[in-house]
Amino acid sequence: MAAIAPSGVRIGCRLIREGDEAHLLPGEAHSIPARQPGMRRASGAARWIAHGLLAELGVGDAAILRTPSGAPVWPEGIMGSLAHDDDMAVAAVAPIGDIASLGIDVEPAQPLPDDILALVTTFADRTDAADRHLAGRILFAAKEAVYKAVYPLDREVLGYEDITVDLNAGHATTKTGRKARLAYCVAPRVVVLAFVEKDRG
Ligand SMILES: CC(C)(COP(=O)(O)OP(=O)(O)OC[C@H]1O[C@@H](n2cnc3c(N)ncnc32)[C@H](O)[C@@H]1OP(=O)(O)O)[C@@H](O)C(=O)NCCC(=O)NCCS
Repeated sequence: MAAIAPSGVRIGCRLIREGDEAHLLPGEAHSIPARQPGMRRASGAARWIAHGLLAELGVGDAAILRTPSGAPVWPEGIMGSLAHDDDMAVAAVAPIGDIASLGIDVEPAQPLPDDILALVTTFADRTDAADRHLAGRILFAAKEAVYKAVYPLDREVLGYEDITVDLNAGHATTKTGRKARLAYCVAPRVVVLAFVEKDRG
């Protein structure tokens, strides 16, 4: 999975384990409203990864609070993203520089059910270069990753129809005019990383 990260981006994963909710720092636990124990465990696992990645950047003990929108708050000068499915948590962080924003998503490496695929796909999406059985799943994860990368920049809620993905070219565009690059892997999970490069004006 680390191979999909562009230069400067740190990425990690962890199988979610019983007791991972204990990895939430007090401020993080407080910022995550009363939710299912399983969700708190997943959020704890994702933050455990992120705390380690931040420590590699020289940032210790930083609480990654959850805002009411759901978006995480990162330490000054750093951008990142979290995701979890039922079993796996992932996180990515990068110093803000060439990369302005990041989004990540993780999904089981299984075909996307047809009804969800119909909700997610638009006529402009391009997926023919991807594994035929997993193309829909990768498309779904790509749109979620792009949304997480773009939301902190625009603060606008987007639907699947507002994001056009070209997996062949490895990029996506949003109705708000943002462009994100995409990188993904499909084993052991589908993990998509979306990153918005700094606008060089
Ligand atoms: C962001 C969103 C897509 C996450 O999807 P999810 O399947 O619930 O959860 P994931 O495991 O993939 O990701 C969860 C993480 O996303 C991050 N996240 C949540 N809302 C976010 C936002 N607005 N911006 C950036 N990141 C966000 C959080 O870090 C969260 O982790 P936490 O719960 O441990 O704090 C979803 O919560 C959401 O806000 N949807 C509304 C808009 C939408 O669905 N549009 C269609 C997709 S384009």
